[in-house]
Amino acid sequence: MLALMIILLLVFIFAGIYSCYFINGTQNGIPTPKGLPILGGISEFLSVFGPAAHKVLMSRFWQFGPIYQFGVLKSKMVFLFTLKDLIKLKKAEGFYPVHLDFKHLRRYRTSRDLPLGLLVSTGEDWLRQRKHIGKALLSSSSLKCYFEGVDMVAKKVAEDLSESASESRPIEMESIVGHYVLLAMARVMMGYEGDEQEEQTVHDFTSIITTARENFKDARILLSTPTFLWPFVKAWRRHSGRWDHLLRTTKRYIENYLSRDSTEVEEISCVLSHLLKSPELTLPEAHINITDLVLASIDTTSSSILWCVYELSLSSKTQHTLFLEIKDFLEAHGTPSFSGLQDLPYLKAVLKESQRLHPVGFFVSRILQESSTIQGYHIDTGSHVAGSMYVIGRDSSLFPQPDVFNPDRWLEDNSDLETFTNNVPFGLGRRMCIGRRVAEIVMSCFIFHLVKSYRIETVSDEPVEPTFRLLMVPGQPVIIRLKSR
Ligand code: HEM
Repeated sequence: MLALMIILLLVFIFAGIYSCYFINGTQNGIPTPKGLPILGGISEFLSVFGPAAHKVLMSRFWQFGPIYQFGVLKSKMVFLFTLKDLIKLKKAEGFYPVHLDFKHLRRYRTSRDLPLGLLVSTGEDWLRQRKHIGKALLSSSSLKCYFEGVDMVAKKVAEDLSESASESRPIEMESIVGHYVLLAMARVMMGYEGDEQEEQTVHDFTSIITTARENFKDARILLSTPTFLWPFVKAWRRHSGRWDHLLRTTKRYIENYLSRDSTEVEEISCVLSHLLKSPELTLPEAHINITDLVLASIDTTSSSILWCVYELSLSSKTQHTLFLEIKDFLEAHGTPSFSGLQDLPYLKAVLKESQRLHPVGFFVSRILQESSTIQGYHIDTGSHVAGSMYVIGRDSSLFPQPDVFNPDRWLEDNSDLETFTNNVPFGLGRRMCIGRRVAEIVMSCFIFHLVKSYRIETVSDEPVEPTFRLLMVPGQPVIIRLKSR
């Protein structure tokens, strides 16, 4: 035991010396926080990926200006804080962009002989999957099919709140929004129909999300531990066991789909059916990708909705303007529709403003595929460079009075704001979020039905602060009261 500890200590010391050499040795001159050789980098990593990540990056921006870097062992990460530099990053992402390496996922999948899936793969393999999965998630014909089911769920969830509204009961929104997104995504992803399937799907999706959240804690441990030590840490065994469970759960949906007869299957339109029908994806690829898509879709969308409800609860003026837009829309069109979303510019502005202030994705990163010069510093090919969405969204030169929730700013023609929309909340370039259009539908339907039926009031004067748990989520419960209109 003692020998093992000595070996580990020596490994850390050598790795530390190497990391110092790597960072100082390259002398790229980018501002770097001062600190002890190994511990400094690890403590910066834990702060940047810790609960107060937003505050840490904001303070680094004040301290160092538009660019800074830190290093852990032999890797380093450069952070950018302006939209202009984020666009430079996009230019250097190359034809096959590479984002943060999810080493823990890669290693698990390789060890189980599974395909890497869209999220982890790179190069030609990534592009091929992206094209085919994109047909299920980005084409208007697919989205039109999903809209009706999502709208129905949103309407029902809003109706179910009427009792709480009539009794003026405080409502804790995380569970309501979480349940809604689960039902909506279950429809989009697996195409469930009817009440019997609903119960099982909600149970399965809840288990998937709980398992994924538990895995995040272990992913944090793994990503700050050298990979050669993984077989010796409990986090690795727990992480792999949870992934086995996730894949067993989604496999049941595939088996169920494959056991149905072809006429039945013809009528189903959901992401899973698209993936399984695609001749360009193998069955194991469809399996790993549907699992990743379920995981990527739920917490991102529900946290974004939760932030939007929070901001609305603080602004009766915004609610009133939005309500008038919805009322006019319903008078003109009768019911919401996929194409009708285009006629709700204020609803779009509300969502954009909420995502600006509360970017759940938090940062977007690339491993540079070509070298770049940013803020006068030469950054080599292969460097890991990230843009902080939180800091960029609070840039006062782009957003006057940046801390104020003001959807009106999105109603003016402003090319900088368009650039922000196309490159920040859902990431940028060829590898930007593939689920963004689904997320927009799910968010829009919920806010539409909530504001159509109720006035939203806040219950507490205390502001809700963000906390980082893989995503930037509300750190305190969002509690509101509803008043029927
Ligand atoms: C409001 C909700 C969402 C937000 C804020 C969000 C944000 C993001 C961001 C910032 C990225 C990184 C993009 C980049 O590197 O440039 C991303 C990637 C991704 N997102 Fe989303 N996302 C959301 C919803 C969804 C949904 C609903 C799905 C699935 C249907 C999804 C699936 C994915 C996948 C698979 C990737 C990786 C794409 C690739 O590597 O090619 N996301 N998302």
